[in-house]
Amino acid sequence: MEPLALAAAAALVLLLILVASWWKTASNDYSGVAGPLVPPPAGAWRWLWQWRETAAFLASHGSGRGFYHFVRTRYLRHQSPCFRTAVLGRVHVFLSASHPAASHLLTAQPPHFAKRYARTAADLLGAHSILCCTSHAHHRHARRALATTLFAAPSTAAFAAAFDRLATDLIIRHWTIRHQVVVLDAALEITYRAICEMLVGRGGAGRLAPLQSDVFAVTQAMLALPLRWVPGTRFRRGLAARKRIMAALREEMAARRHHQHLHDDDLLSLLMQRRQLGHPDALTEEQIQDNMLTLIIAGQVTTATAITWMVKYLSDNRLIQDKLRAEAFGLELKGDYSLTLQDLNGMDYGYKAVKESLRMATIVSWFPRVALKDCQVAGFHIKKDWIVNIDARSLHYDPAVFDNPTVFDPSRFNGEGEGDDVKLGRAQQQGRRLLVFGAGGRTCLGMNLAKIMMLIFLHRLLTNFRWEMADDDPSLEKWAMFPRLKNGCPILLTPIHDSS
Ligand code: HEM
Repeated sequence: MEPLALAAAAALVLLLILVASWWKTASNDYSGVAGPLVPPPAGAWRWLWQWRETAAFLASHGSGRGFYHFVRTRYLRHQSPCFRTAVLGRVHVFLSASHPAASHLLTAQPPHFAKRYARTAADLLGAHSILCCTSHAHHRHARRALATTLFAAPSTAAFAAAFDRLATDLIIRHWTIRHQVVVLDAALEITYRAICEMLVGRGGAGRLAPLQSDVFAVTQAMLALPLRWVPGTRFRRGLAARKRIMAALREEMAARRHHQHLHDDDLLSLLMQRRQLGHPDALTEEQIQDNMLTLIIAGQVTTATAITWMVKYLSDNRLIQDKLRAEAFGLELKGDYSLTLQDLNGMDYGYKAVKESLRMATIVSWFPRVALKDCQVAGFHIKKDWIVNIDARSLHYDPAVFDNPTVFDPSRFNGEGEGDDVKLGRAQQQGRRLLVFGAGGRTCLGMNLAKIMMLIFLHRLLTNFRWEMADDDPSLEKWAMFPRLKNGCPILLTPIHDSS
């Protein structure tokens, strides 16, 4: 063999050995299979490992299988409830919420852990956003101020009435003249309008109505690379959209101050009144604005996505759809009725269908927390600045917790409050372990509103139409913040009076 060819062959063999040893190092030695997670690979290996993991994460995100595919494959590879990876230069540990240490981390809120979203989220939602507060004290202050106004019973009833008006208008007036509709588009529209009305009243919602596409741009930018100086990027479009939303909110607040118009019971008025009265829990003007945007972002896409999955699961399960319809008609609501909170309380099976949809869809797949110092979690050594993601999806699909977890079955929650001890034990165990809205001091502030919107939408759809999927493509939207169908869930509608 020529010396040159010999040298090339030797170099190739050396390269293969290096790649194989790196692959083994990155895949196995650092997996944390049977003991504490050892530190990430050192030096160049670490760099390569981070690039490999980031590329795999981005590839998963950009595929029709969704970003959770990246997580699922790593659980399978490591055969452990906990694994470590690195994405965009940060070390991430995924911990299945089936592990007892996960619920402790959420509910006990140890001081050496803080909630942490990517910095881009704070750029887009604002430094004062309740979702982005890393200091426990700031978070408690914002949460108290928002919760006391959001949880007031009259506002919940008013919210249900407003959402029912919007859902009725959409489903009874607009959908009856159409044969095929895309559920996600419609759900995004009415959840946006309902949340805006709750925040700024019907009048103020008019000012925010044209900004729905801006809110969408902010949501889209939250997952984008932070290329703030590059024109035309998603992130830059998101920042520009935020500016317009903030300007509209500032105008609305200025108009209210100017006209002394603070007697409405929408959230903005309540927060502004507290500020005027010097209430200890009052928020500053900037805190109010950031949190108004946060509530829209946190509430709109999540709930619209959940509604869409619910409609999809019920298209695939026609017997359950019929059983729910029988319950809805059994309420004997006649004429042009408006749904009340009391009516919703009568929708027992409907409520279980909502819960089951939320379990299967698991809109927020994991909850990120950053370690503020070196510590131990679930027997694993966690280093300062690592992000521990508590993975709710793996709990919701754990067959040890939910029987046949891939089957849509609202009756898995039967037994709650029915006095059958054996069923009660299992149902309560499953209900308690649902982590759809998080747990502990960071639990979702809008969980009741979300369930109300889902129940009302379900009732109005069931009592007016039968439906089936118009396109069964299961692909997921690429680069979406929450897993959702790429086709937006198009359905074919058959009016009830035609089919019965
Ligand atoms: C199906 C719909 C929804 C789902 C699945 C959902 C899920 C969640 C989850 C899992 C968290 C906690 C994340 C963590 O601990 O890291 C959260 C927080 C939050 N959610 Fe929701 N949410 C929904 C609807 C809403 C609505 C309708 C609103 C308000 C209009 C809302 C407002 C919030 C707020 C303000 C927080 C932050 C709470 C805090 O940090 O103290 N959410 N949500």
